[in-house]
Amino acid sequence: MVRGMNNILEKIKILYSKLQEPFVGREDEARAIVLALLSREHVVLIGEPGTAKSALARRLAELINARFFKYLLTKYTEPSELFGPLDLKSLKEGIYTRITKGKLPEAEIVFLDEVFNANSAILNALLSIMQERVWYDGYTEIRVPLWSLVGATNRVPEEPELEAIYDRFLIRQYARPLPENKWSDLLEAGWRIESGSVPPIKPVASISDVAEAHKLIFKVDMSSIKSKLLRLYAILEERGIHLTDRRKAKTLKAIAANALLEGRMYAEERDLIVLKYTAPRELGDFDKVNIILSEELRMPERFLKELSDIQANIREASRLVESMRSYDPRLVDLYRSLKIAKSRVLTIQREADDDRVQALAQETLKDIDELLEKISYKLGM
Ligand SMILES: Nc1ncnc2c1ncn2[C@@H]1O[C@H](COP(=O)(O)OP(=O)(O)O)[C@@H](O)[C@H]1O
Ligand SMILES: [Mg+2]
Repeated sequence: MVRGMNNILEKIKILYSKLQEPFVGREDEARAIVLALLSREHVVLIGEPGTAKSALARRLAELINARFFKYLLTKYTEPSELFGPLDLKSLKEGIYTRITKGKLPEAEIVFLDEVFNANSAILNALLSIMQERVWYDGYTEIRVPLWSLVGATNRVPEEPELEAIYDRFLIRQYARPLPENKWSDLLEAGWRIESGSVPPIKPVASISDVAEAHKLIFKVDMSSIKSKLLRLYAILEERGIHLTDRRKAKTLKAIAANALLEGRMYAEERDLIVLKYTAPRELGDFDKVNIILSEELRMPERFLKELSDIQANIREASRLVESMRSYDPRLVDLYRSLKIAKSRVLTIQREADDDRVQALAQETLKDIDELLEKISYKLGM
């Protein structure tokens, strides 16, 4: 263990949980933002208006003690609005500089709403700022303290001139409107947020905490996931989802960041889930990637779901058995189905290395065995 590690990671975890706290169903968005911070990369939230993108960015600004700059871009936004006005006094002396106080060149965290509205002058500046953390203004080259840029947009850019900047958002999250079963919670949460009764928040981490945590990601043991990652890249490519070389390389950082966020100094197969943020390009890709990942990764959530489905079936079958007479021929079919379910549960037990899955599998096996016994009895076996 690296000294001080627990303390730093604790702060990052608190940041993650506080960030999503007032919102309904925005865990993935909060995780996207935190993974970007840990990886020292940029994140874009894509989604129709009103999906809490700006609210999340505002909350991030409150939770992290950093120099923050935010701006809503339109086609008419001038470079001076982001980078500061020209310094006329210096200009008279023949020196071209801008007054950057409080503007993007001095910010550690930047939120650009409708980021793909940027015109070409702004785009060019942003590209080098995002990539090299260097701002070329006129004849000068200035290092900027930018840590992560958070972008929001309601569309995936189609224009070729936006391709380069879109690629620089390693983390992409599609913030969808909430499904119907969350609408009731949304009313509650929205009411609290709108009425201002969400308690004011104090920063829970500083940018130097984030920087400390970022250093740790390079100490995460990645050895066990590399071959699986390569296989996933091949599968994605085969299914028409292409990651640029930049994204293929940088995804490793996001994987390590996810392991850290889960409190591990080693990556596991389940950390490859971050591909859901780094692989999609088109909106349709987000679902495709999720499906591929759920097929390819041994995810505890999937096993938990499967086991609880099996349990529900057993309860149903158990009621049925109660109501059946001895020697009912359907008992034989049930007996067989239960044997099949049992071997599936045993497979899950072998494959999963998650405590919750193990516990639930154990419980399910017990239920199955009890029911098998009941059926045997009725069958007079
Ligand atoms: N998932 C959510 N949970 C709670 N409130 C939400 C949620 N989504 C939207 N809202 C409410 O809607 C408001 C508008 O969200 P906003 O951040 O402006 O959306 P966007 O920037 O995506 O257009 C939020 O301030 C909040 O009151
Ligand atoms: Mg907004």
